[in-house]
Amino acid sequence: MHQVQNTNLIWVDGVPVSKHFDDPYFSADNGLAESRHVFLAGNNLPERFCNGFHIGETGFGTGLNLLAAWQLWEQSGQKSALGFTSFEAYPMSPENMAKALSKWPELNNFTQRFLAALQPDYSIDLPTLKFRMILGDAAQTLPRWQGHADAWFLDGFSPDKNPDMWSDDLMQQVGLHSSKTASFATYTAAGHIRRKLAKAGFTVERVKGHGKKRHMTIGKMLHAK
Ligand SMILES: C[S@@+](CC[C@H](N)C(=O)[O-])C[C@H]1O[C@@H](n2cnc3c(N)ncnc32)[C@H](O)[C@@H]1O
Repeated sequence: MHQVQNTNLIWVDGVPVSKHFDDPYFSADNGLAESRHVFLAGNNLPERFCNGFHIGETGFGTGLNLLAAWQLWEQSGQKSALGFTSFEAYPMSPENMAKALSKWPELNNFTQRFLAALQPDYSIDLPTLKFRMILGDAAQTLPRWQGHADAWFLDGFSPDKNPDMWSDDLMQQVGLHSSKTASFATYTAAGHIRRKLAKAGFTVERVKGHGKKRHMTIGKMLHAK
């Protein structure tokens, strides 16, 4: 199993930055608010939450998106397990996740429960969270995944810095691993990414980004109502 942990980090004002990709894991301009705006509101959550709901994510990073989603899931009264599968090639150590997540005291209860339950293979089985991290290059692992997501968080660093996470083939795989009513959201508004997602079967819409960012992109499977 791919178990190489990513130590290739520098820290800038408490924000981990990948030396390899030269990109931060989350926005220095309130990453939690951005995660909620882009990935949660962008997928119309919590309104679409229901029993058996499954989130797919490209790039797990620090776990910030998962924690924000799990908090919203519980706060919105869901009692069953939220399914969350994330595709990650260079997993952070739990110590570095804890360090990054300590920036968000309001997530503390969830961060502590997450870290306490995290297994060596990065899985979690709790009454309200069933998490799997699929280790390895998403281009290799997503085609082999047996699941389907109801909402996608596309979060693999910026397309300029990491084009592999936004390839035509990978976007096709996102479409193929989507339920009939699936949606996606991402902070990028790059035209070539929007076209790839449209080719993968989504309606694609450019909407207001977080904070100073003008635009981001959301979409739904074409056959979703
Ligand atoms: C912007 S960070 C994700 C942030 C994260 N969602 C969070 O909540 O902290 C992008 C992630 O994509 C991962 N990544 C980069 N290239 C990848 C690839 N080819 N396959 C899988 N994961 C990759 C990086 O290791 C990094 O953790």
